[in-house]
Amino acid sequence: MSATSVARQRFSRGTAVITGAAAGIGEGLARHLAALGMTVVVADIDSDRAEKVAVDIVSAGGGAEPRALDVADPVAVDSLAAGVFDRFGSVELLINNAGIETAGLLWEVDLDRWARLMQINVDGVFYCLRSFVPRMIATGSPSCIANLSSVGGLNTVAVQSPYIVSKHAVLALTECLYQDLSIVGAPIQVSAVIPHSIRSDIFTSAQRDAPTENETANAVFAAMQRDNVEKGLDPLVAAEHMVEQIARGEFWIHSDDELCTAAAHRRGRQLLDLLPPADPRDMLARMGVPIPKGQP
Ligand SMILES: NC(=O)c1ccc[n+]([C@@H]2O[C@H](COP(=O)([O-])OP(=O)(O)OC[C@H]3O[C@@H](n4cnc5c(N)ncnc54)[C@H](O)[C@@H]3O)[C@@H](O)[C@H]2O)c1
Repeated sequence: MSATSVARQRFSRGTAVITGAAAGIGEGLARHLAALGMTVVVADIDSDRAEKVAVDIVSAGGGAEPRALDVADPVAVDSLAAGVFDRFGSVELLINNAGIETAGLLWEVDLDRWARLMQINVDGVFYCLRSFVPRMIATGSPSCIANLSSVGGLNTVAVQSPYIVSKHAVLALTECLYQDLSIVGAPIQVSAVIPHSIRSDIFTSAQRDAPTENETANAVFAAMQRDNVEKGLDPLVAAEHMVEQIARGEFWIHSDDELCTAAAHRRGRQLLDLLPPADPRDMLARMGVPIPKGQP
């Protein structure tokens, strides 16, 4: 059976809940899962875009319903979970995808932005797990949870510390979830998604919502945005590849096998050889970003 038919078989019915599904990776996942046959709950803080994505999916013959949701609000998350279980009876696939970025030097990150990013990227995943997992366990049927970490959850990258910290946390949280579910013997598969670059507005949104004055951070984000547009995967293509791996029951989910495996091996080598973090000047040189004055 080809990988595509595994996904087609496993995700041809049932309900998928995807947070942050009104744009980028979440939107790609929503459109692909609906095309496979799932009914998709398009949950996003941007309710207009969530509505538009759901309407598009339905007009293409799929099943989708929009929900306004701020994942950083545990009461709203619990009410979403209660409503979805009331309406559909079960959730076969939960994808904790909502996330934001931030540029800047670690000690210059605005206090409110640090808190907001952690609330969305880390607490938001926890809130979804605490509201959905008990209901998924009670349903008793096989289901699946995939959490969006990043290759930035394996390695560290300069001038985006809150994001990197949050993605390491999501990876740890996902591994802990895997272990705790094994202890209770719940038939819930857990997968950690560690994408490389997939085309989205994540960098431009960060620069719009929380601009930094640091020139190097701005230049790095401009270069990452440029790379994302020029070399990032199309979200639908990435979704197809990632959903196939989830359907096969894998824990590590890649957007691009070669680049994601290379990132994991880099981390492995660093720990095995007890190396310090990568020299960020190599990254700046690769990106064509000038090294700040005063550096050797
Ligand atoms: N794009 C990449 O290359 C890449 C790489 C690795 C990991 N990721 C991760 O993938 C996930 C999706 O990122 P993306 O690139 O598609 O970003 P994006 O900015 O294109 O989309 C994020 C979506 O999340 C929604 N959102 C933001 N805050 C929210 C909140 N509080 N509650 C609910 N929804 C909220 C936004 O409205 C948006 O629709 C993130 O967790 C990101 O860290 C992205």
